[in-house]
Amino acid sequence: MQERLNELQNQAKNDLAKANSRDEVELVKTKYLGRKGVISEIIKSIPSLPSEQRATIGKLANKLKQEISKEIEAAKKQCEASLTLPSLGAKSTGKVFDVSLPGERKSYGRKHPIAQTIDEIKGFFGKLGFDVEYGPEVESEYYNFDALNVPPDHPSREDFDTFYLDNKLLLRSQTSTVQIRVMEKKKPPIRMIAPGKVFRPDTVDARHASMFHQVEGLMVDEGVSFSDLKFTLTTFCEAYFGQDIKMRFRPSFFPFTEPSAEADISCSICKGEGCNVCSYSGWVEVLGAGMVDPNVFEAVNYDADKYTGFAFGIGVERLTMLRYGIDDIRLFFENDMRFLSQF
Ligand code: PHE
Repeated sequence: MQERLNELQNQAKNDLAKANSRDEVELVKTKYLGRKGVISEIIKSIPSLPSEQRATIGKLANKLKQEISKEIEAAKKQCEASLTLPSLGAKSTGKVFDVSLPGERKSYGRKHPIAQTIDEIKGFFGKLGFDVEYGPEVESEYYNFDALNVPPDHPSREDFDTFYLDNKLLLRSQTSTVQIRVMEKKKPPIRMIAPGKVFRPDTVDARHASMFHQVEGLMVDEGVSFSDLKFTLTTFCEAYFGQDIKMRFRPSFFPFTEPSAEADISCSICKGEGCNVCSYSGWVEVLGAGMVDPNVFEAVNYDADKYTGFAFGIGVERLTMLRYGIDDIRLFFENDMRFLSQF
């Protein structure tokens, strides 16, 4: 029996020498020290040995068990060491680095689709020489209404169309406020766009949000005409939606432009055939525009006999929804990565 134990010790050493990985070392451990392993079997057989041998064999078996355990631990450490990456001068942490693991995928950030559309609009108008201007979101009634020729009894001034704050301030309901702020500061010629948030107490649904984005535009100079307006906005819509869209200008009314128009494009979802996005009309409104009303020029001390101009306001969400076939404006503001990462 004693011989058998010696032999086992050598065998275990040989097995360990051949084991090249943690898994293989683990197999050796099971073979010798496992519950049904060789050593356990020997220990279990002790009671059936002649009584004078029991104590000695018991001791030897336990000693062997300890020795094999030690060697197994040493072998494991060695495997770990050989798996650790060369430490490039830093101290090795001794931690296992499993080179066979799949790589970690890095997710890159990107701009929100609304910010992307605004960037595109800036890019287009930048090429036509339009500067980018910004105005405050908290405004006075003067900039949101009075200077824009909105009469005191106009419905857009009602509580249900404008968010009022204390001290006669309000959340601007249109970016047209920036027209006034820029004309107060600068003399013609003016070419500017003003992107930004606007706020309206609309009931939120698939087409309405209490906050959305507009890009205002304004061009003032001597001899600016309605055909400049049509050219500029048609060219913009073709650039944004593609050359194959149709565009139409409908007469409309805004207090700060005269004449005024609303521009529709042929529905890019159904190609003009009629669908729920265009309410089966084949057309979708994308912007309001018009020639700057002389009363507005008066408010900013421009000579209305000398200068003419056009202004427009583009709905950014509307534009983006039409291009991508998005049927619910709320998707833009819910920050669901499954939606946002598509852009
Ligand atoms: N401010 C208008 C709106 O919010 C859009 C507009 C801007 C119309 C400029 C004409 C000129 O509906």
